Amino acid sequence: MSEPAFSDVRACVFDAYGTLFDIHAPVASVASAIGGDADALSNLWRAKQLQYTWLRSLMGVYADFWQVTGEALDFALAAHGVADKALRRKLMDLYFTIDAYGDARSGLAALRSAGYRTAILSNGNARMLEGAVASGGLGELLDEVISVDEIGVYKPDPRVYRLAVGRMGLAGPEQICFVSANPWDAQGAAHFGFQVARVNRFGMPDDNIPGTPKALIDSIDDLAGML
Ligand code: LAC
Repeated sequence: MSEPAFSDVRACVFDAYGTLFDIHAPVASVASAIGGDADALSNLWRAKQLQYTWLRSLMGVYADFWQVTGEALDFALAAHGVADKALRRKLMDLYFTIDAYGDARSGLAALRSAGYRTAILSNGNARMLEGAVASGGLGELLDEVISVDEIGVYKPDPRVYRLAVGRMGLAGPEQICFVSANPWDAQGAAHFGFQVARVNRFGMPDDNIPGTPKALIDSIDDLAGML
């Protein structure tokens, strides 16, 4: 466990997919229709979804995260030899109403009770984030939902993290505690200047890129007591 090194945090800004929302829930709910490949398909869907955000940012050809998510799913289905249009539609519907992790509501509520403002900063576009926030019942626990769609470039471009400083009306990035379960996002945000807590949902070490989170936590429920 890392040192409790947070200081003068004013707001907590959360990554969405993988941090508040369970990216493997959509495939898990139709796993019986997919069979033994379900976990591999879900992992490939996620890996391609992220790769396509990075590739599109480098190529300068932005498309919103809903489109990218669908294109990544098409790749993953093709790679596993699945050609089932109804299943594809079902998986995208499930992604729209994606489940929140068990600690999302309670963790956000504890931060709000402790007086912190809260927000989402996500690759997701406004419409899909609305769907996820509504189905997770998180709306009343969030002050802002901020999407990269406003600037047409994906994480971990520093312009994305800068967007949150402005939207939260804060003087600087050090007033934000950023929370992500995606190591590369946690590190990108830390390198930008946020105080970062990484949620250890996937049992992965840090990536070998710049940026050091201040804490590795098991659950969002642990955060309010550390700030
Ligand atoms: C997000 C991606 C990283 O929500 O899943 O921004």
